[in-house]
Amino acid sequence: MGNTYHQAPTSVAAAPTGCPVQHDWSPLDADYLDDPYPIARELADRHPVFWAEQLGHVVVTDMRDIEHVFTNPDVFASTNVQDPISPLCPAATDVLASPDFDPVAVMSNRPEPDHARIRVYTRRGFGNRRLRALEDYMRDRANEQLDRMVADGSPAEFVAAFAFPLPAEIVFRLLGFPPGDDAMIKRWCVNRRAFSWGQPTETEQVEIARGMLDYWRYCREFVARRRDERADDFTSELLDAWEDDPGPERDPDATTGISYREVESVVYGISFAGHDPVTALMCNTLLCLLPRRDQWQALVDDPSLAANAVEETLRYESSQISWRRVTTRPTTLGGVELPAGTRLLLNFAAANHQPDVFERPEEFDIHRTDANGHISFGKGIHFCLGSQLAKIEARIALEVLVERLPSLRLVDDQQLEYFPNITFRGPERLLVAWD
Ligand code: HEM
Repeated sequence: MGNTYHQAPTSVAAAPTGCPVQHDWSPLDADYLDDPYPIARELADRHPVFWAEQLGHVVVTDMRDIEHVFTNPDVFASTNVQDPISPLCPAATDVLASPDFDPVAVMSNRPEPDHARIRVYTRRGFGNRRLRALEDYMRDRANEQLDRMVADGSPAEFVAAFAFPLPAEIVFRLLGFPPGDDAMIKRWCVNRRAFSWGQPTETEQVEIARGMLDYWRYCREFVARRRDERADDFTSELLDAWEDDPGPERDPDATTGISYREVESVVYGISFAGHDPVTALMCNTLLCLLPRRDQWQALVDDPSLAANAVEETLRYESSQISWRRVTTRPTTLGGVELPAGTRLLLNFAAANHQPDVFERPEEFDIHRTDANGHISFGKGIHFCLGSQLAKIEARIALEVLVERLPSLRLVDDQQLEYFPNITFRGPERLLVAWD
């Protein structure tokens, strides 16, 4: 399998000897999807490290243990983070067996030393110059999107009207994809969450796999066009780096440079990672703020509080509530001995609400001074590449909303639905109204 982007899941392992076992909980349970926090805390209080039988993973809930895992990549590898949690049906496997479906692991699931070699080039693309240039574009686009939402009248479905299209556009422009392709690309990414983090039906698996194949082909064609004609975008910068030093293409053990296939795979990976969780973050900020009228009003009066309101949302109601790792050798965590090959689910929902880390963890407070102590972007060498971009996007969205729609509120008695998956969290639809 080597550095294949999505590996087939390995068979479910057994509970490590001596590890407390939780037989009947799964992060896909309806009550957990509805509101994970009380359940995550209750499980964490019982056993900070436990085996979740239904998931076949050891669940890690304590902030310090999670940080230990993230900062010891030799022992806790990230090679499994994009793998499907449930086995793929043969029809979906066949689609992905297409000879031209060959993205390689480049970022979140690539081990050292190659990850560090590639990250040198990807980090450059998210530097301050590009983010500053995008900031004006983001504000303009947020205003235009809001013009349309307002013109259509109150109430509105916020996901479709605002939060779904915006983050995709931003990351697609950063990569250089032509604007006319946005809707088509978004269609290929629909349900991608289900593929690696949910339990799609066989029909859905095939549909998602076809979307991934189409999308990979699109990325390859796009990169080929940019190879022939550069522009001022991230993909062109990566291609410049490849031309300067093609790394593994000149020497398989190269410690510098980036290969052409790696450039294609970075484009493929970032364009999914870069929008779905931001859409959810925009919705979650409203879910936290709109019912707490005093805090919403504080933002209306002083929009400079928006940055910390986003940070507090990432702590209190993050759009990503878990991530995975796998042990490379026997080790001990939270007093539990883990053999090599143990799969771990790092439970951010428990850690971000941990009482000995955050005072009054169950209170949402935009004035909290240590809100940024959350673990929602990970830590260490794989720390989220797009964290600044995500925070800027969510902040700008909030600034524009408080300025233009101070009377914004949630529509009463709406039933929120959360897409069943173990990691990403945000409502499927969100009805908002204004005067
Ligand atoms: C609210 C939005 C987001 C959340 C909550 C989030 C969260 C995360 C987390 C938890 C990780 C794994 C960190 C680790 O293993 O230590 C990660 C990695 C990553 N994220 Fe994000 N992310 C968000 C937005 C974005 C955006 C906007 C982009 C790009 C445009 C992005 C690109 C990446 C990449 C490339 C990695 C892998 C980095 C590496 O392995 O070196 N993310 N993100």
